[in-house]
Amino acid sequence: MNITIIGTGYVGLVSGAVFADWGHNVVCLDVDKKKVQNIKKGIMPIYEEGLEELVKRVQNIEKRFRVTTDYKKAVEHGKLIFICVGTPGNSQGAADLSYVFSASEAIGKYLKNEYKVIVTKSTVPVGTHNKVKEYILKGAGSKKVNFDVASNPEFLREGTSIYDANHTDRVVIGSDSKKALNLLERLYKHLNAPIVKTNLASAELIKYAANAFLATKISFINEMSQICERTGADVKDVALGMGLDNRIGPKFLNAGIGYGGSCFPKDVEALYRTSSEYFYDFRLLRGVMDANERQKIYFIEKVYKKFGTNLTGLTFGILGLAFKNGTDDIRKSVAIEIVKMLRGAGAVLNVYDPAALKNAKNALGVNGINYRLSSKSVFNKADAVFILTEWPEFAELNYAHLSKKMRKKIIFDGRNLLNPKEVISAGLDYYGIGRFLNF
Ligand code: UGA
Repeated sequence: MNITIIGTGYVGLVSGAVFADWGHNVVCLDVDKKKVQNIKKGIMPIYEEGLEELVKRVQNIEKRFRVTTDYKKAVEHGKLIFICVGTPGNSQGAADLSYVFSASEAIGKYLKNEYKVIVTKSTVPVGTHNKVKEYILKGAGSKKVNFDVASNPEFLREGTSIYDANHTDRVVIGSDSKKALNLLERLYKHLNAPIVKTNLASAELIKYAANAFLATKISFINEMSQICERTGADVKDVALGMGLDNRIGPKFLNAGIGYGGSCFPKDVEALYRTSSEYFYDFRLLRGVMDANERQKIYFIEKVYKKFGTNLTGLTFGILGLAFKNGTDDIRKSVAIEIVKMLRGAGAVLNVYDPAALKNAKNALGVNGINYRLSSKSVFNKADAVFILTEWPEFAELNYAHLSKKMRKKIIFDGRNLLNPKEVISAGLDYYGIGRFLNF
């Protein structure tokens, strides 16, 4: 099938490359010329495991994948046209849909009377499809056009998105048109995953419901970690005991410094806003967001309790800056927020992340921060080392050995990555999230 993708961010580029890998002819459009030139050269705008190899293969060897800035060519190409542009949160916490609407209008401008399906993959609030349709018609002007709109939300996780695209738990497609649903079903049928065919509003809402529910799970276990600290329970054991119940499941029950990234914070807030617009106060979500904010404050308070609120003269080692492991993405990264708080209180920071150093440097600058090229070097003369991102390699370090280089042997484990008993018996002070420490 001929497929067009509008927007070459995480969702667009990964989806385009994966569709080409499935044997379809894909044209990806982006308005950013530099980005398009780079992708043509095999330089990816994002770090994503396996993406560069996949794009190079489908683009240069199998020749089923092209990138362009030419809207006319892109719109003429695809039977299915996927809108995958960003929907960042605006200053009121709602989703900013301006990119979605300008893409819709541009699509309308080049549509002809040949039938096409315009599919929204970007995460958009319920009801957006009506506006997408309006903007397409606005772009088309007085021309006769023949199209349907559909919604096909994306559930990819950064860091594992190519795997996720090939091993999805489910596919969700929404449209009022049977023809559009059938075309989309054809695209995904080979995955042998359940396909939820529904109306447009439900498809749009499913994405928000899923992200908000996962964020709720994280905030729930983070709140539980507070109860654990006060009662002598261990949150890891509590999560294990809960998660073994099939109805609950073990995933997204890792207590830590809170969720971040380009999706959860923005989507929980946007769902809350949407609910308010429909005159419903979704109080549970307010609690989820509050708990997420409080969690990093609790963490910083542990540091103040240990060192006081003025951290001048102290040097801290920081392990992890990305919003989670497996990515270079630092958008809404709690690690970055914590780094800013520590620096703001006067500490000097030696920081390391396996993938996000460059992005972090752009965001944080060099004032009070030394960027290190190995995890081990952050231990040198440190008054404490902080684990802020759950990279598995941080769990593999020899803390007993590395602590010899520290000024004070203290670990703040913001991701509960280490076994406290082992760290303490290696002679370090350990501060985790909701852990039992009196061995
Ligand atoms: C999330 C969803 O998991 C995807 O299904 C969805 O497609 C995507 O958003 C999106 O809307 O595009 P992602 O943002 O890549 O994916 O990240 P997650 O793996 O969900 O992690 C989000 C945050 O939660 C991270 O900061 C992570 O550290 C934190 N987290 C996750 C926890 O604190 N505890 C956990 O147990 C799990």
